[in-house]
Amino acid sequence: MTDRLVAPHGGSLVDRTGDKPADLDSLESVPLTSRELSDLDMLASGALSPLEGFMGREDYDSVVESMHLASGLPWALPVCLAVDAAPSGDRVALVEESGRPVAVLEVEGVYEYDKEREAVNCFRTKDEAHPGVARLYEQRPKYLAGRVTVFQRATPTFPELALDPADTRAAIAERGWKRVVGFQTRNPIHRAHEYLTKVALETVDGLLVHPLVGDTKADDVPVDVRVACYRTLLDGYYPEDRVLLSAFPAAMRYAGPREAIWHAICRKNYGCSHFIVGRDHAGVGDYYGTYDAQLIFDEFAPHELDIEPMFFEHTFWCNLCGSMASTKSCPHGPDDRVFLSGTKVREMLDEGEVPPVEFTRPEVAQVLIDAYRVP
Ligand code: ADX
Repeated sequence: MTDRLVAPHGGSLVDRTGDKPADLDSLESVPLTSRELSDLDMLASGALSPLEGFMGREDYDSVVESMHLASGLPWALPVCLAVDAAPSGDRVALVEESGRPVAVLEVEGVYEYDKEREAVNCFRTKDEAHPGVARLYEQRPKYLAGRVTVFQRATPTFPELALDPADTRAAIAERGWKRVVGFQTRNPIHRAHEYLTKVALETVDGLLVHPLVGDTKADDVPVDVRVACYRTLLDGYYPEDRVLLSAFPAAMRYAGPREAIWHAICRKNYGCSHFIVGRDHAGVGDYYGTYDAQLIFDEFAPHELDIEPMFFEHTFWCNLCGSMASTKSCPHGPDDRVFLSGTKVREMLDEGEVPPVEFTRPEVAQVLIDAYRVP
């Protein structure tokens, strides 16, 4: 049944899980950061198909310079493993911070990389105040390339939400959906997000609510609080037979436009035919223009990505329309719109004050108040 769905990127789902090798103890250990561990787990599950390991120089250069793998297939962000020096053997053990080995990498090469070039091309800035750039600048100086075999998968924080691409495709097929829209988020689902997902759902068979659960910035809402918000909102306001909630195990890069392309490609691997891109997707601060993450899709030939982006203008509640609306569909001015900055919402929550229903559902507000109220 899953063959009714969009094909994975590059044609087939990669599976890089395998058995623990007998000579594991004799291999040199390479420690992974938490971002690299999320990437590793996504390599294992096929979420990063067609990648089978950490990128070699040819793919890396081609992605950084022209958003394509060396094979010509679109790809927007590096998936690389940073090390201090080349290992001595031709295989290494990849280990967690605790020292526990989780995978083996067949060494294909080690290469120098230019952090500033990667920053400027991928993040559009070399400002160290950008969280993605800061992370890149802190990295070890060389990249280690090679195919991985993962024998110890990451323990998911929310096991019931941990659906690999193959599981997600099976769940979609079981529901009989063909056209499925994916929704990436790193925030609680407020009314604006809810509006996007429901407008999108009107035109397709099903909605995959796919919150990112890997690393985020310290001031983003913690993932356990967000998951409680998603569950509460879905229970009260979405039809169960049209929505699937599962976790996207990636870490945020905050790379705005390029990350929107990367997010879309990954969601294609999970079986999505469509992907929502709203205002300042995966953005941070004011590094990107409001719609840059939509405009970047024009840099690819029609059908090259083979997942249909669904673009949304900035959405809000309009008092005169008496509904959610966007700058595209509402003729009224900013004074009639309910807009709350993140800082304002945070202040209200700290005070135990309920943000207006035009901004967020009362049940979601309550989850946030319970999590944030200063005792
Ligand atoms: S993101 O880093 O995952 O993009 P967020 O969770 O806030 O952050 O956004 C999820 C999706 O909703 C993105 O596609 C974003 O562009 C879109 N979005 C968020 N808020 C709005 C809004 N008010 N109007 C339109 N799109 C929005």
